[in-house]
Amino acid sequence: MTVVVIVGSQWGDEGKGKLTHYLGPDFDLVVRFQGGSNAGHTVKTHGETYKFNLLPSAILYPDRTCLMADGMVVNPARLLDEIKFLKKKNLWGDNLRIGSHAHLVMPYHILLDELEEKRLGGRAIGTTKQGIGPCYADKFARLGIQIGDLLHPSALRERLGTVVELKNAMLKGVYNHDEPYSVDGLYDNLMRAAETLGPLVVSSVETVRGHIEQGNSVLCEGAQGALLDVDYGTYPFVTSSHTVAAGACLGTGISVSEINKVIGVSKAYTTRVGNGVFPSELTGETGNHMRERGLEYGTTTGRPRRCGWLDLVLLRYTLKIHGCTELALTKIDVLDGLKTVKVVGSYRKNGSTSTITEISDRQLSQCEPVYEEFKGWEGPISGARSEEELPPELVRFVDFVEQEVGVPIRMLSLGPDHDETVWRIPKIQI
Ligand code: GDP
Ligand code: IMO
Ligand code: MG
Repeated sequence: MTVVVIVGSQWGDEGKGKLTHYLGPDFDLVVRFQGGSNAGHTVKTHGETYKFNLLPSAILYPDRTCLMADGMVVNPARLLDEIKFLKKKNLWGDNLRIGSHAHLVMPYHILLDELEEKRLGGRAIGTTKQGIGPCYADKFARLGIQIGDLLHPSALRERLGTVVELKNAMLKGVYNHDEPYSVDGLYDNLMRAAETLGPLVVSSVETVRGHIEQGNSVLCEGAQGALLDVDYGTYPFVTSSHTVAAGACLGTGISVSEINKVIGVSKAYTTRVGNGVFPSELTGETGNHMRERGLEYGTTTGRPRRCGWLDLVLLRYTLKIHGCTELALTKIDVLDGLKTVKVVGSYRKNGSTSTITEISDRQLSQCEPVYEEFKGWEGPISGARSEEELPPELVRFVDFVEQEVGVPIRMLSLGPDHDETVWRIPKIQI
């Protein structure tokens, strides 16, 4: 039995989808454990590109069970679209299961997300407007609707009655929104979704525990990144779930002691979508180079991603919080052709070197990055399939990062395609 967790080690979009799809065939069960359709995970294989918002990125392997576990929040309409897309392409393997305690993202969650962002104006979070915050808020306020409720129509209708009354009052009272939701309308839509989704609902805990107890291997696919974690990220500019590796336990029922490996994923530079602090952000030519070469536009929203140098202060922090046993360094090819490549080695505050005592939007806003510089490499490097084929300048860069963060870098990703990957010896052993 092996349990491996893949997690983002920056502000998301590090390439978790590529790695999950790459390692998927080695696992019996592949699980998404938090977040919802705010995630956008890309898989490029055999010349085709797939973008998954809710489905685990191993869904293309019909003989691998994919579970959307209890810690997720699920917009049924978005999920039905993803399933429909795969069915149309003849790629639906009927290998999806959904944990009964996963919460439903309701239309009023999406509306509240939009209205609240508008209310915040210049202080907006820059959310994906997928209703994630309001849905998790309802979960913790014990006002949520769970996927499993779809199997109990009369109780569901009653619960909707209670919750929708409150939502309508809030929409009118706080946001002066005049179009109340009808319980019947919401209920009918859920019942239609239940025709397809109902048969996929399982006990998440029983599914995961069953695999573990049979000695099967389990891969947990994180969404977002550690710096977006609701407690350990740059609050309040974060998402509303636990994106750190421990979230895999909370979201699935796997116990902490059962996790064997945690693979952090980091780009060779940094990106961020949405608002909030970004010490190494580049607003000029080099940032544009990263955005254009790296196609840094949001998978979910299409928003241009903010780009900057790799920040080793932040990476050291996130790898520790995750408890990473190895690191996958992605999108290295995007730096091809740059004369100089930089990384943040430390921060300065009020003119002197600063030790970061906490990672928060406030604290980081007061820090000035101090850079280490490296000679760049020519490229293109995407064709390399072993470390020996890589330019020595790049190997020096990777060795430096590895030494600085104290975690072995096993996978180097040199392009979006499955095959554009180099494993440093030894390859991650499952
Ligand atoms: P995720 O959310 O962590 O799964 O990452 P996204 O899919 O949102 O964003 C990563 C983007 O970079 C996608 O468009 C991937 O196809 C692409 N990508 C992944 N790895 C590499 C790489 O090594 N090089 C390049 N150029 N693109 C990559
Ligand atoms: P993946 O899994 C990058 C960001 C949003 C915003 C903040 C809060 O593809 O890496 P939310 O809609 O979650 O309330 O937005 O979090 N965000 C992401 N940024 N990648 C993601 O997911 C993200 N999911 C949310 O841009 O700043
Ligand atoms: Mg993404």
